[in-house]
Amino acid sequence: MNLFDVTNAVNQSFKDYNDGKTRVDIKREDLLHELVSGNKLRKLKYNILEAQRQGHNTLLTYGGAFSNHIAATAAAGNICGFKTIGVIRGEELGHNLEKTLGGNKTLSTAHALGMQFKFVSRSNYREKYDDKFQKVLNAEYGHVYHIPEGGTNHLAVKGTEEILTVKDKDYYDYICVAAGTGGTAAGIINSTAPHQKVLVFSALKGDFMFDEIARYTHRENFMVFDENRFGGYARSSDGLIKFMNGRFRESVTSENPKGIPLEPIYTGKMMYRLEHLVKTGVISGETRILAIHTGGLQSVTGYNAMLEKKGKITLDYINEI
Ligand SMILES: Cc1ncc(COP(=O)(O)O)c(C=O)c1O
Repeated sequence: MNLFDVTNAVNQSFKDYNDGKTRVDIKREDLLHELVSGNKLRKLKYNILEAQRQGHNTLLTYGGAFSNHIAATAAAGNICGFKTIGVIRGEELGHNLEKTLGGNKTLSTAHALGMQFKFVSRSNYREKYDDKFQKVLNAEYGHVYHIPEGGTNHLAVKGTEEILTVKDKDYYDYICVAAGTGGTAAGIINSTAPHQKVLVFSALKGDFMFDEIARYTHRENFMVFDENRFGGYARSSDGLIKFMNGRFRESVTSENPKGIPLEPIYTGKMMYRLEHLVKTGVISGETRILAIHTGGLQSVTGYNAMLEKKGKITLDYINEI
């Protein structure tokens, strides 16, 4: 089967509140594909079709050492017959590749799928789209298809416009989605029905996300919640991890024996903050909410190792994912 011949993801019940009046369901985009999971499959779809149309044989993209986008691009490229190049933040990671791969599941999986890495310093990484650095890439790799960091561009947004089904647009009052670059949120917003509101939970500190999303949508039916609860990107608290462990255990039922695992950077924080909005009455009454599970579970192993190193409590369902 073609990677992009995807059927719609299933919606599962996450939790009911207010005596069952406020219902939260979760759309399991993470189950669409084992390696190209969640929003990544949607964002890569039209980019890969365009790369094929232009006759490219190599995809080049950018990311951090635990990036879900790097993992997914390596897998999608491998499946679709492309060579892949990952420009990775952190020059030091390239000094001993074997050691780096030994301690990093994201990079070792991408490497096994054929991705070639270019490790760059943090300052070069910050300036990766500047002419000077692009010339270096062109000289080294020639004519390749570039996909931006996080995978967001107009073709990615076109893909994320396919997440909601006709039934979702009719049934739900609120759609919730996590944001890194805002591309997934923009596609969701573009595809919503007029009566729906989109709640966007940014994974980053700062008030720039609204404008990022507005680059790709003219709609105004959305609100952005910046990451001012846990201290910023990839930060967490014991409370968040306990919440995620608890909700995972509750989600394991006879109808859903594998439960609903979340990851701590995007979807875990989204569900925590959504629950807070419901518990504090910001959202109340007869309300149907659909949260999008955007995948990213591949990062949990590395995240747990980091928590363990700091002596913090860890995600206890890691062996059940
Ligand atoms: C698991 C997960 N969820 C959500 C997002 C956010 O997607 P976007 O960058 O389109 O806002 C990402 C992004 O990078 C992600 O890895």
